[in-house]
Amino acid sequence: MEKISGENQYIFTDAVAETLNFSPLEQRMYLSGGELKQWNGSQQQVYSPVCRIENGIEKPVFLGSVPQLDEAAALDVLHDAQQAWDLGRGEWPVMRVRDRILAVENFLKSFNALREQVVVWMMLEIGKNRADAEFEFDRTSEYISDTIDAVKKLDRECSNLEHESGILAQIRRGPLGVALCMGPYNYPLNESFATLIPALIMGNTVVFKPARYGILLLEPLIEAFRTSFPKGVVNFLYGDGKVVVKAIMETGKVDVLAFIGSSKTAIEIKKLHPRPNRLRSVLGLDAKNPAIILPDAELDSAVSECVNGALAFNGQRCTALKIIFVHETRVEEFLQRFTAKIDALKAGLPWAKDAYITPLPETGKIEFLDALIDDATEKGASIQNKRAGKIANNLMFPAVLYPVNAAMRIYHEEQFGPIVPVCSFTHTDEVLHYITNSNYGQQVSVFGQSPEQLAALIDPLVNQVCRVNINTKCQRGPDVFPFNGRKDSAEGTLSVGDALRVFSIRTMVATRETPENRALFSHILEERMSHFLSDHYLI
Ligand code: G3H
Repeated sequence: MEKISGENQYIFTDAVAETLNFSPLEQRMYLSGGELKQWNGSQQQVYSPVCRIENGIEKPVFLGSVPQLDEAAALDVLHDAQQAWDLGRGEWPVMRVRDRILAVENFLKSFNALREQVVVWMMLEIGKNRADAEFEFDRTSEYISDTIDAVKKLDRECSNLEHESGILAQIRRGPLGVALCMGPYNYPLNESFATLIPALIMGNTVVFKPARYGILLLEPLIEAFRTSFPKGVVNFLYGDGKVVVKAIMETGKVDVLAFIGSSKTAIEIKKLHPRPNRLRSVLGLDAKNPAIILPDAELDSAVSECVNGALAFNGQRCTALKIIFVHETRVEEFLQRFTAKIDALKAGLPWAKDAYITPLPETGKIEFLDALIDDATEKGASIQNKRAGKIANNLMFPAVLYPVNAAMRIYHEEQFGPIVPVCSFTHTDEVLHYITNSNYGQQVSVFGQSPEQLAALIDPLVNQVCRVNINTKCQRGPDVFPFNGRKDSAEGTLSVGDALRVFSIRTMVATRETPENRALFSHILEERMSHFLSDHYLI
């Protein structure tokens, strides 16, 4: 694919740097054990997907660097988290829920004040457009405050004592130990914090490994973590996962693994734990969510939902629509409207007004996508839209491929980028066959108007995927809804409420209900002697 020459609106300039108030950031410290530890070892260089011209050559903008910890430093980070856990007797795990909530509320105040800095780094590091970066920040802020509310509610519900068959008991949710939280590059803030915050607020101590891209955006938040939580409760693990994650997993001292990424990597990480029965996991993994356009679909809204569902953040969402099945009677009309709408999308740098298609952060991504396109076109598909292809370094305009069939890689593989494969079908059984034989089981979108036809599809689909969207794109949110998947798409369920369960275990204090034991319990409760056995709660 040829690059269009003279497109200088895709180039980073000094004027842009000034507007964004940007200068490279060499981060040489990391937070562990409550301290900002100085790192004198090797650094991981961070580059933007956006390019600038240096000596007449386009080169990725250098953003700065972060510590690349070695095995020994990784083990120290784990040790700090273990010290703070202190066999479950640390300050944080035994703290009253109300005090943990206060710590998170403090953090949230500092977090909210750092919005613009984080948003700018997000645009620079992963190429997310400004509107989506701001939305990700605000969504994360809301997630934290919803989590606080959910914990208060949970605490209220657990404050009652239960009487059952002569046993008096108080049942609460207790923390599990040290949690390793690893987020993905496409949502380096939201999806990381969607496990980190619940893990913390439930009393665990955390080793937080930032995503591959989107690391410097966390730097402004480090001080807020340091000042809001007791030492060792939040610890950052930087570096190559094959070194640092391997080192800490092999100790068997990680109690919970929260990972959003590929199922292949998740398998590798889990296998490293020497005592797998001790490891709890919550995983958000691969997906290839299909859209099904039925013969009676209302195409105006179906096309809009499919464009946005397939191409928001250039298709780099685990919930993106990654294959579209259109009934043969509507395929021509669908393709015509769909490609027109896609070709009207604005490509640009993340901060450009209305930029929708933006540069891709992953090294080698365009080559990977090109290979998928070449494979499909060699096997009979053709590119349907006019603007498809690379338009600048790391910036690829979406390609719509049709007709796609089972012989092509794009039919099976998750593209996680701006390619939309379209297939036509005669009977819905063909699409059901695709879904039941797929390794993925996250979500599906069905577009149609006949209640009979929709109902006939809903029942078989709900046992294949975890969310069936009717006339609506696939998506994770609202974050209070369950987010999960079947088969290779996930393990466990995340949502504001479910995450609190994932990072805790039901734990109880019980006694045979004799007058003496009742008096004992009453004494402990009235004098507020225990943080766990307590009927006191935050309103
Ligand atoms: O990458 C996967 C995200 O969980 C998707 O979230 O549907 O809100 O974009 P979203």
